[in-house]
Amino acid sequence: MKRRSFFYLSLKIVGAFFLVVVARAFGKFMFWSSEGSKIREAPKAILDKLSIGEPHHLVDAGVWLNKTPDSMTAFDDRCTHLGCKQKWNPELRIYQCPCHGSEFDINGFVLKGPATKPLNKLRIIESKNSFIEFVDQK
Ligand code: FES
Repeated sequence: MKRRSFFYLSLKIVGAFFLVVVARAFGKFMFWSSEGSKIREAPKAILDKLSIGEPHHLVDAGVWLNKTPDSMTAFDDRCTHLGCKQKWNPELRIYQCPCHGSEFDINGFVLKGPATKPLNKLRIIESKNSFIEFVDQK
Protein backbone atom coordinates (compact mmCIF):
# COMPACT_ATOMS: atom_id res chain seq x y z
CA MET A 1 0.00 0.00 0.00
CA LYS A 2 1.33 3.35 -0.95
CA ARG A 3 1.85 6.00 1.63
CA ARG A 4 -0.71 8.31 0.11
CA SER A 5 -3.48 5.69 -0.07
CA PHE A 6 -2.71 4.67 3.54
CA PHE A 7 -3.11 8.30 4.57
CA TYR A 8 -6.49 8.60 2.80
CA LEU A 9 -7.69 5.31 4.26
CA SER A 10 -6.75 6.51 7.75
CA LEU A 11 -8.49 9.80 7.09
CA LYS A 12 -11.66 7.95 6.02
CA ILE A 13 -11.63 5.78 9.16
CA VAL A 14 -11.17 8.79 11.45
CA GLY A 15 -13.87 10.65 9.51
CA ALA A 16 -16.30 7.73 9.83
CA PHE A 17 -15.61 7.47 13.57
CA PHE A 18 -16.18 11.20 14.00
CA LEU A 19 -19.43 10.96 12.03
CA VAL A 20 -20.70 8.14 14.30
CA VAL A 21 -19.85 10.15 17.43
CA VAL A 22 -21.63 13.25 16.09
CA ALA A 23 -24.67 11.21 14.96
CA ARG A 24 -25.00 9.62 18.42
CA ALA A 25 -24.77 12.99 20.16
CA PHE A 26 -27.35 14.44 17.78
CA GLY A 27 -29.68 11.47 18.36
CA LYS A 28 -29.41 11.87 22.11
CA PHE A 29 -30.17 15.57 21.80
CA MET A 30 -33.19 14.97 19.54
CA PHE A 31 -34.73 12.35 21.81
CA TRP A 32 -33.85 13.98 25.11
CA SER A 33 -37.34 15.48 25.44
CA SER A 34 -38.99 12.07 24.97
CA GLU A 35 -37.14 10.77 28.02
CA GLY A 36 -40.23 11.60 30.05
CA SER A 37 -42.22 8.97 28.20
CA LYS A 38 -40.29 6.11 29.80
CA ILE A 39 -42.26 3.79 32.06
CA ARG A 40 -42.26 5.15 35.56
CA GLU A 41 -43.57 3.00 38.33
CA ALA A 42 -43.32 2.36 42.03
CA PRO A 43 -44.66 -0.30 44.38
CA LYS A 44 -48.24 0.46 45.43
CA ALA A 45 -47.21 -0.04 49.06
CA ILE A 46 -45.39 3.31 48.93
CA LEU A 47 -48.78 5.05 49.12
CA ASP A 48 -49.26 3.84 52.70
CA LYS A 49 -45.94 5.33 53.76
CA LEU A 50 -46.69 8.89 52.60
CA SER A 51 -47.37 11.68 55.08
CA ILE A 52 -50.02 14.21 54.22
CA GLY A 53 -48.53 17.45 52.87
CA GLU A 54 -44.96 16.12 52.76
CA PRO A 55 -43.83 15.41 49.18
CA HIS A 56 -41.96 12.16 48.75
CA HIS A 57 -39.27 11.77 46.08
CA LEU A 58 -39.37 8.54 44.10
CA VAL A 59 -35.84 8.89 42.74
CA ASP A 60 -35.88 5.87 40.43
CA ALA A 61 -39.20 6.90 38.88
CA GLY A 62 -38.20 10.57 38.68
CA VAL A 63 -41.39 11.59 40.47
CA TRP A 64 -42.41 13.75 43.40
CA LEU A 65 -45.54 12.35 45.07
CA ASN A 66 -47.67 14.54 47.31
CA LYS A 67 -50.58 13.29 49.38
CA THR A 68 -53.29 15.71 50.50
CA PRO A 69 -56.25 14.83 52.74
CA ASP A 70 -58.39 14.08 49.69
CA SER A 71 -56.07 13.48 46.74
CA MET A 72 -52.67 12.44 45.47
CA THR A 73 -50.51 14.48 43.09
CA ALA A 74 -47.47 13.41 41.12
CA PHE A 75 -44.97 15.71 39.42
CA ASP A 76 -42.07 15.00 37.11
CA ASP A 77 -38.99 15.76 39.20
CA ARG A 78 -37.32 17.66 36.34
CA CYS A 79 -37.41 21.43 36.29
CA THR A 80 -39.34 22.89 33.36
CA HIS A 81 -36.50 25.31 32.63
CA LEU A 82 -33.69 23.00 31.51
CA GLY A 83 -34.46 19.71 33.20
CA CYS A 84 -32.45 19.68 36.44
CA LYS A 85 -33.99 17.68 39.27
CA GLN A 86 -35.68 19.98 41.74
CA LYS A 87 -35.51 19.41 45.46
CA TRP A 88 -38.19 19.85 48.11
CA ASN A 89 -37.36 22.41 50.79
CA PRO A 90 -39.40 21.39 53.87
CA GLU A 91 -38.78 24.66 55.75
CA LEU A 92 -39.98 26.91 52.92
CA ARG A 93 -42.39 24.24 51.62
CA ILE A 94 -41.38 24.82 48.01
CA TYR A 95 -39.56 22.91 45.27
CA GLN A 96 -36.24 24.53 44.42
CA CYS A 97 -34.08 23.93 41.39
CA PRO A 98 -30.37 23.79 42.22
CA CYS A 99 -29.29 24.78 38.71
CA HIS A 100 -30.66 28.28 38.09
CA GLY A 101 -32.83 28.94 41.13
CA SER A 102 -36.37 28.39 39.89
CA GLU A 103 -38.92 27.80 42.63
CA PHE A 104 -42.31 26.08 42.53
CA ASP A 105 -45.06 25.88 45.12
CA ILE A 106 -46.41 22.58 46.44
CA ASN A 107 -48.92 22.52 43.56
CA GLY A 108 -46.14 22.88 40.99
CA PHE A 109 -46.81 26.51 40.05
CA VAL A 110 -43.84 28.78 39.33
CA LEU A 111 -42.94 31.15 42.16
CA LYS A 112 -39.64 32.31 40.73
CA GLY A 113 -37.97 31.93 37.31
CA PRO A 114 -36.20 31.46 35.04
CA ALA A 115 -38.73 28.59 34.62
CA THR A 116 -41.98 29.88 33.17
CA LYS A 117 -44.03 26.68 33.06
CA PRO A 118 -45.38 24.80 36.08
CA LEU A 119 -43.98 21.39 36.97
CA ASN A 120 -45.26 18.61 34.72
CA LYS A 121 -48.13 16.89 36.45
CA LEU A 122 -48.31 13.14 35.97
CA ARG A 123 -51.34 10.86 35.95
CA ILE A 124 -51.27 8.12 38.55
CA ILE A 125 -52.53 4.78 37.29
CA GLU A 126 -52.96 1.64 39.35
CA SER A 127 -51.61 -1.25 37.34
CA LYS A 128 -52.79 -4.85 37.61
CA ASN A 129 -49.77 -5.95 39.59
CA SER A 130 -48.82 -4.33 42.86
CA PHE A 131 -47.41 -1.24 41.17
CA ILE A 132 -48.61 2.26 40.35
CA GLU A 133 -47.54 3.95 37.12
CA PHE A 134 -46.94 7.61 36.37
CA VAL A 135 -47.86 8.85 32.92
CA ASP A 136 -47.38 12.24 31.26
CA GLN A 137 -50.67 14.09 30.87
CA LYS A 138 -49.80 15.31 27.36
FE1 FES B 1 -34.10 24.60 36.82
FE2 FES B 1 -32.75 26.09 35.15
S1 FES B 1 -32.95 23.95 35.15
S2 FES B 1 -33.88 26.71 36.85
